[in-house]
Amino acid sequence: MDGAAVGEFWLFVKHECTGVAGMQRSALITGISGQDGSYLAEFLLSKGYRVHGVYRRTSMPTLSRVEHLLDDIELHQSDLTDQASLFKLIRQVRPTEVYNLGAQSFVGTSWDQVLTTGDTTGLGVARILEAIRCVDTNIRFYQASSSEMFGKVEETPQRETTLLHPRSPYGVAKVYGHYLTINYRESFGMFACSGILFNHESPRRGLEFVTRKITHAVARIKLGLQQELRLGNLEAKRDWGFAGDYVEAMWRMLQQDKPDDFVIGTGKTYRVQDFVDLAFAEVGLSPADYVVVDPNFYRPAEVDLLLADPSKAERQLGWKPRTDLAQLGFRALI
Ligand code: NAP
Ligand code: GDD
Repeated sequence: MDGAAVGEFWLFVKHECTGVAGMQRSALITGISGQDGSYLAEFLLSKGYRVHGVYRRTSMPTLSRVEHLLDDIELHQSDLTDQASLFKLIRQVRPTEVYNLGAQSFVGTSWDQVLTTGDTTGLGVARILEAIRCVDTNIRFYQASSSEMFGKVEETPQRETTLLHPRSPYGVAKVYGHYLTINYRESFGMFACSGILFNHESPRRGLEFVTRKITHAVARIKLGLQQELRLGNLEAKRDWGFAGDYVEAMWRMLQQDKPDDFVIGTGKTYRVQDFVDLAFAEVGLSPADYVVVDPNFYRPAEVDLLLADPSKAERQLGWKPRTDLAQLGFRALI
């Protein structure tokens, strides 16, 4: 056998052994059809995990973001509002790690669907934690918490110890999930971590979020398919990063010796107006000719300024964002 063949052989043996001995790490991802779920699935596959994903039954397919992974992942139908199905799923799959990314994640909708948001984004965390507690408290758990919990910010930049002051039903639901994660750690000794992630974007971001709404519209305007872009509050400031970088931080949290909570962000903040300016500049157009401020897109209560202090993550997890907004590149977002 030549060197390459020997390498292949040993890889095969290792794969077989870990499979037989049940040592191959496996992860269950709720929200695998979402932006972060798709990047996390790719990342965990690259680390040799067996990846299981939870998806909901819908009348139209929602799996386009993981279409390229369908041969490599195992999908299971369930729902964060259905306790029995979550319990059965955890018992059947017995993952070593659970990443709870599923949520009603659009802040604007949370005022129109307060109860759905509370049920999925808040109580969904309780249901999955209960399922894990009943099946095996050694399963490691990641909760997708949010900088939206800081809301009307009590200090800047925001860190793990900053007081929470949510400004939307979504933010309130996330605060419940965050504290419940900490509570299960303290009550039952579970390895449960809460990642407080600031806004992160990508070409896979939903079109209703402001970054994709802007870049999508800019592309359509450039192509003559759209005449104007209607937006709400242009003065809101966000700490925007790249989703592909952030999923690595989720995984790193679950590889620590002790469970803990971490702020994940870039440490830079921009106004929505800055993002608009950069996106239009990318295609050589002037925003003043196309952007219309429309109060219909204002929120009942706004989060004016988000700016992360990610230094704890850098110190303890060895994690740093690799991509800032300029590097992410507006062309990639379009
Ligand atoms: P996303 O693209 O909106 O994905 C949300 C996922 O949740 C989708 O897969 C969705 O499934 C699933 N889901 C919704 N309701 C569900 C239910 N009842 N049962 C099971 N699954 C359900 O969100 P994302 O940007 O990837 O964010 C991932 C998580 O991080 C979310 O919890 C979000 O709140 C949180 N977060 C995001 C950011 C950010 O900037 N992206 C920042 C902080 C925290 P369908 O495809 O069927 O709708
Ligand atoms: N969506 C949207 N549409 N937002 C607008 C618009 C508009 O037309 N015009 C101005 N904005 C402002 C919003 O008022 C908000 O201040 C900012 O743009 C960002 O809005 P989104 O992109 O919808 O994101 P978000 O910050 O509300 O929430 C996202 O980040 C959170 C983390 O801080 C979501 O991903 C949440 O799930 C996440 O937890």
